[in-house]
Amino acid sequence: MNKDKRNQSKNKQLKSRRGFIGNLSKVAVIGASLPMTQIMAKPTIQSENGVETSADSFGFSTAPYIQNLMENSVDIVFITNSKAHSWVEYGSEDLDLKAEDNLDGFIQANNHLNTIRLEDLTPGTTYKYRVASREIVKFDPYDLVFGDTIMGDVHTFRTSKDMNSVSCLILNDIHDRPYSFADLLSLNKGFQYDFVALNGDMFDYQTDEQQLIDHLIAPCTDIFASEKPFLMVRGNHETRGKFARNIKDYFAYPDSEYYFSFKQGPVHWVVLDSGEDKTDADKEYGGIVSFDAFREKQAIWLENEFQKKDYQGCKYRVVLMHIPPFHSGDWHGTLHCRKLFHPLFERYNVDMVISGHTHRYGVHPPSDAHTYPVIIGGGPKTGNRTLIQFKADEEQLNVKMIRDDGLVVGEYSVD
Ligand SMILES: [Fe+2]
Repeated sequence: MNKDKRNQSKNKQLKSRRGFIGNLSKVAVIGASLPMTQIMAKPTIQSENGVETSADSFGFSTAPYIQNLMENSVDIVFITNSKAHSWVEYGSEDLDLKAEDNLDGFIQANNHLNTIRLEDLTPGTTYKYRVASREIVKFDPYDLVFGDTIMGDVHTFRTSKDMNSVSCLILNDIHDRPYSFADLLSLNKGFQYDFVALNGDMFDYQTDEQQLIDHLIAPCTDIFASEKPFLMVRGNHETRGKFARNIKDYFAYPDSEYYFSFKQGPVHWVVLDSGEDKTDADKEYGGIVSFDAFREKQAIWLENEFQKKDYQGCKYRVVLMHIPPFHSGDWHGTLHCRKLFHPLFERYNVDMVISGHTHRYGVHPPSDAHTYPVIIGGGPKTGNRTLIQFKADEEQLNVKMIRDDGLVVGEYSVD
């Protein structure tokens, strides 16, 4: 059996094991605050966004995953297999605090996809947390009926404090090969990281929620994502398919935009959405995309962001964008990114651009064309996939690119 086949079989085993997550974590607090007459089994099978559910097993479709872990707050995202009222229990010693999603006077409920923010956290503190959901089996006016309450496993995360260094792992171009997460992260060994950046094209195209779960969320929560945050940089393949307009809901983007910037350690991080690779008028897109305008809007935002005082103390500026502005052929997406973003990268002294897209890994040092290094991770086939380790402190910024056979195929440092 070749390696890809073996990995597919391994994934099938993982998937069937995951089917039991909900049942194993169910606890005996069923309908704790309700008279027994109001507890009833879920009467019908529901199928929402492609998620198959059964009539008698309310459960979690995913383990929780962490987004936007800051000094004082974090977003916890998780999915149940039918509609529910969900919350997070947490605390530094015990699980004595509770967070729900409140909006317009409502506590969010009758939903299955949850993003719950924990606020007022203490910097530099390890917290325990677990997610909980109470199934809603009937939601009629004046007749609200709850079913089982389930609890997830207890996980931990640690808030940051006065970081003078930052480290992360960067993966790109997985292209619907969930086994690649385990393969690539197994190369990491003891390197400590604060977050993982998924630098685009995790998928070939977007089909439904189940694809997001099986090909990204589950392989990530199996390894790290319940305890370390990741950020999802949109690649051109995430813009394709019938579910492409829904995927933003599954990741907690700051200001609900695919492009954003933040400060962590000595780095001003900039995440850009490089859009599609062909022109908007290309027949493959059917006249329903406008990525030129979207990139132009980002260029205006980016200049403004570079000028903000918030980032003036940062020692480095690092850009994550799926399509690199150079070394990526001469299709429209590359050239448009070069035209719009490259002059800003030069003017505002960007120290490094980290990308994917080409499926040809490479470290491209500064040249006549660009004064900043362009780091391009490889993928998606076995033998061409890479893990990028990034670390920056006051002394140095360093990236190391490791191929899936363990060989270091690129390294670059900025003093
Ligand atoms: Fe791509």
